[in-house]
Amino acid sequence: MCGIVGYIGDKEVTSVLIEGLSRLEYRGYDSAGIAVYDNNDLHVRKFKGRLNVLADHLKEETLTGVVGIGHTRWATHGEPSDRNAHPHTNVAGNIAVIHNGIIENYMKIKEWLVEEKGIEFKSDTDTEVIAHLIDCYYEGDLLEAVYKAIRRMEGAYAIGVICKEEPDKIVAVRKDSPLIVGLGEGENFIASDIPALLKYTRKMHLIENDEVVLLTKKEVKIFNDLGQQMDREVFNVTWDAEAAEKEGYEHFMIKEIHEQPKGVSETLLRRLDKEEKVTLDGIKLTKEDLDNINKVYIVACGTAYHAGLVGRYAIEKFAKIPVEVDVASEFRYRDPFVDDKTLFIAISQSGETLDTLAALREAKRKGARVLSVVNVVGSSVARESDDVFYTWAGPEIAVASTKAYTTQLVAMYLVALHMASVKGTITEEQYKEKVNELKTMPDKIQKILDNQTKIQHLADGQFNNEKVFFMGRGLDVHVAHEGSLKLKEISYINSFAIAAGELKHGTIALIEDGTLVVALATQDHLYDKMLSNIQEVRARGAFVVGVAKEGNKEIEKTADVVLYIPDTLDQLTPILSVIPLQLLSYYIAVARGCDVDKPKNLAKSVTVE
Ligand code: F6R
Repeated sequence: MCGIVGYIGDKEVTSVLIEGLSRLEYRGYDSAGIAVYDNNDLHVRKFKGRLNVLADHLKEETLTGVVGIGHTRWATHGEPSDRNAHPHTNVAGNIAVIHNGIIENYMKIKEWLVEEKGIEFKSDTDTEVIAHLIDCYYEGDLLEAVYKAIRRMEGAYAIGVICKEEPDKIVAVRKDSPLIVGLGEGENFIASDIPALLKYTRKMHLIENDEVVLLTKKEVKIFNDLGQQMDREVFNVTWDAEAAEKEGYEHFMIKEIHEQPKGVSETLLRRLDKEEKVTLDGIKLTKEDLDNINKVYIVACGTAYHAGLVGRYAIEKFAKIPVEVDVASEFRYRDPFVDDKTLFIAISQSGETLDTLAALREAKRKGARVLSVVNVVGSSVARESDDVFYTWAGPEIAVASTKAYTTQLVAMYLVALHMASVKGTITEEQYKEKVNELKTMPDKIQKILDNQTKIQHLADGQFNNEKVFFMGRGLDVHVAHEGSLKLKEISYINSFAIAAGELKHGTIALIEDGTLVVALATQDHLYDKMLSNIQEVRARGAFVVGVAKEGNKEIEKTADVVLYIPDTLDQLTPILSVIPLQLLSYYIAVARGCDVDKPKNLAKSVTVE
């Protein structure tokens, strides 16, 4: 989704902006632009396409300012084009604005600006109204004009504004869209995401909702919606900028697939004390709290939702509490039955997904206790939760989620075991068996990664398929859904996931000669049933790739190719069985020549509805 960077200091601003924006490329975008103050004027340069189109253009001219704002745009209102790219300016061109999010009432404001003020619009965007609104209220004080403008704006936004008349300041606002401030010596920054600024500083202020920030090169002042100045602690970023580099891998996605043993191990081992008991520092749920809870809602989007489906299984199985799982965009609008006896669990890698955040707020409003499983420290979801479990996956850059998913699975197993142990619904022996098995996961994932050549060959033979089915039973269905999402989002192949028992109720009509079917058969008690389902699709001409546990060789008689995962407890197989599916999707997408890390139409952090 869109990226924001702003700088004020002594450095040459265009290179700071381009460098910052390049760190946000992973969020997904279709145009890029900057506005800088140089030679007593504001200069805007913006182009459709990749950031290097803008960077190449800038090489041909000398803009040498020390204050400016930059933006990568992911189109919502208006097609990707030069004129719709940000920054946008007022008619006189002395106020420039960058914006992430959506101004929901922009049509109403636009009508007013056109009819009452006679303004002619230069773009199709909602953002342009902000520049004109600020202009309408500008009487020599940019901060005041911004305050007046945002009082008329509805929706979710983070904005950065500069003005020719006050070139010694940047004004920024956050409402439901992420914004951070970077603190330097004699220089300050704004950005939508931490990686944009790590080259320059590790000291940040996390800006809260409805706050307005005034930056000069010497100081940063944060105000609330009433204009009162707020104190804010400095947030020190501890992870490395290198963690966000490719380190010799061809793509971030394959690097992140290979980082899973480490991510899983970090997520797990940080939570096991000397007695190998799960201690969840960020979770303060007592036995009394848990006894009061009669229902759990797990809410998330996309891949995180798939982790939630496995989480439901673990909580119901171990802690014996009924669980509902929902996608956030549905939950927030369906007036779900939630009260103070509900535990609401939000799962989110970024912690900034707007639907998940809105669902969380809705649950809180109805009295639920909120626990979140989040990867990004200090993100909005984390900050608004009562209890937080951080997955320690490290920064995930590729749009397609891999290591965030496996660490979310581990997190959900640990949360379930913790609840079960506090409630006393699991015996000491059962508890130990699961914890000990979880500890073997990093090595077992590594074993699958070490044998990836077979998957590469398989991808080379199958990449031309235009239709792929994933099927499974029990826990395997949830992994089938995740495998299918991974494949479609990066390779653009039409892929579907289905509970194998449902095949005969319609979907089998689509199976024909050569159709690729990935059949997960890792659940012992459902193994024979899966073999029958494999027979059924093979009889209709499907090419079947089976996924099974080592030692279960019977499947070789029915499937065309079998990908084995190391033996483990049936309850924990999703952590392993997803790995071959991630690799298969990755190598198929590479063979098809797709832009694996930045698939078309997708964004890493979905901060609009
Ligand atoms: C798919 C993918 C998305 C995200 C979803 C939620 O590979 O990455 O489906 O899982 O957009 O994002 P977070 O977890 O940041 O809330």
